[in-house]
Amino acid sequence: VENVGILAMELYFPSQYVDQTELEKFDGASTGKYTVGLGQLKMGFCSDREDINSICMTALHRLIEKNSINLHDIGRLEVGTETIIDKSKSVKTYLMTLFAEEGATDIEGIDTTNACYGGTAALFNAVNWVESSSWDGRKAIVVAGDIAVYGKGPARPTGGAGAVAVLIGPNAPLVLDCGVRASYMTHAYDFYKPDLASEFPFVDGKLSIKCYLSALDNCYNLYCKKMRKIDPDFKGLLSLDGMLFHCPYSKLVQKSLARVCFNDFLNASPEQREKQFPGLSNFSSHKLEETYFDRDVEKAFMTYSEALFEEKTKPSLYIAKNVGNMYTPSLYGGLASYLISKSPEQLIGKKFALFSYGSGLASTMYSINICNDMSVGSKLAKLLSSLNETVSLLNERQSVEPSKFSDIMDIRTMNYHTAPYQPSGSIDILFPGTYYLIDIDELRRRFYARK
Ligand code: ACO
Repeated sequence: VENVGILAMELYFPSQYVDQTELEKFDGASTGKYTVGLGQLKMGFCSDREDINSICMTALHRLIEKNSINLHDIGRLEVGTETIIDKSKSVKTYLMTLFAEEGATDIEGIDTTNACYGGTAALFNAVNWVESSSWDGRKAIVVAGDIAVYGKGPARPTGGAGAVAVLIGPNAPLVLDCGVRASYMTHAYDFYKPDLASEFPFVDGKLSIKCYLSALDNCYNLYCKKMRKIDPDFKGLLSLDGMLFHCPYSKLVQKSLARVCFNDFLNASPEQREKQFPGLSNFSSHKLEETYFDRDVEKAFMTYSEALFEEKTKPSLYIAKNVGNMYTPSLYGGLASYLISKSPEQLIGKKFALFSYGSGLASTMYSINICNDMSVGSKLAKLLSSLNETVSLLNERQSVEPSKFSDIMDIRTMNYHTAPYQPSGSIDILFPGTYYLIDIDELRRRFYARK
């Protein structure tokens, strides 16, 4: 099989959001902290009407409907999530209700979990399956979804919610590069969810940023090394048309691109440094491990990378700025945003790198090529128009004032383990086609309907 990758893609984000400017006021934070300091505009959230099963199902059903997928043509269904509502039963098994209705039950795959990385792990599982001897000719679907909520405090504005569903198979318009994925995995307590009685994580904000940046340094350098084995002329960022990142908040992504430039700078020969990085030579003796929070390095390389950021990364931040950190789907919301900022003609033949990060920690940098075989051009055009239609729903959401948002969060928190339970959140507010929770019975079984 050749050109295994993404054939189609759909997303789901909630129909309600809280405005970050209003949230700053409500939280008593200084003006600009969330909007300028974190670079966020709006944060999507779910009431008690939605849970991980329902949001994943909404994204999956949208993908199936919009692409008229024959369910018997799917041989693998993978879910990546860190939103755990059951310690045993996978979200995948709930998604099977859709397939079982059609008698399609011969479908491999279950859930994969490690913070925001599960979606990427699920994607790799699906791609690997199609490329393997176990493959039976059918396609795979990967669903990544999360409801990202934090307790009251500084992390709360970095929440979000959403799901993405991706169709994987051969002869795809978006092809994953083979043999160059670069991973960095190690043990850290930067963000984790050890309290099973709570929906909220334990988070060490500063440590999580340090872990994220050190994972980026490691993945980027290893990725470049692997790329240069295939293409000795590979020049890192300069050879890439786009660079996409897992996005906890937009400002960290802008800093990450600056960090990539700092890596390129340190790796350059002295002559090359003079030419490519004029005026920055006083940073030559700085070390990666000592500069995660170095203001001078950050400022110098943020300035240096401004135009590169505008061109290669900023277009990927549209959904992230308007929905927040969706956790596992975050990077794929970035991919969708980047793709719809261009026309199919502008995308053909382009290459971009993606950095996936999940606290704890697991991270990988990999790359995608837009196939320049025009026979897949129509698949690409369809993917873009479908995504465009979905993303335009961002403008049809309802704004909820922060005090009401806070009340809705309190209801979620209070009832996280209540059973039996009838959710109280509005059904009217949901987009058509959204799955929602009707009831949790005394045996804690969940029942859903579709709007
Ligand atoms: N105007 C403009 N900028 C401001 C203002 C203002 N009025 N006030 C503060 N800022 C800036 C700060 O200078 C800071 O910028 P810097 O990052 O360049 O230093 C930024 O806004 C954030 O302010 P802090 O005081 O650093 O914020 P705080 O410590 O309160 O929280 C944090 C930020 C750590 C990101 C927190 O929201 C958090 O813990 N989030 C969850 C963890 C997370 O997202 N980690 C990222 C990787 S791991 C993952 O994906 C979960």
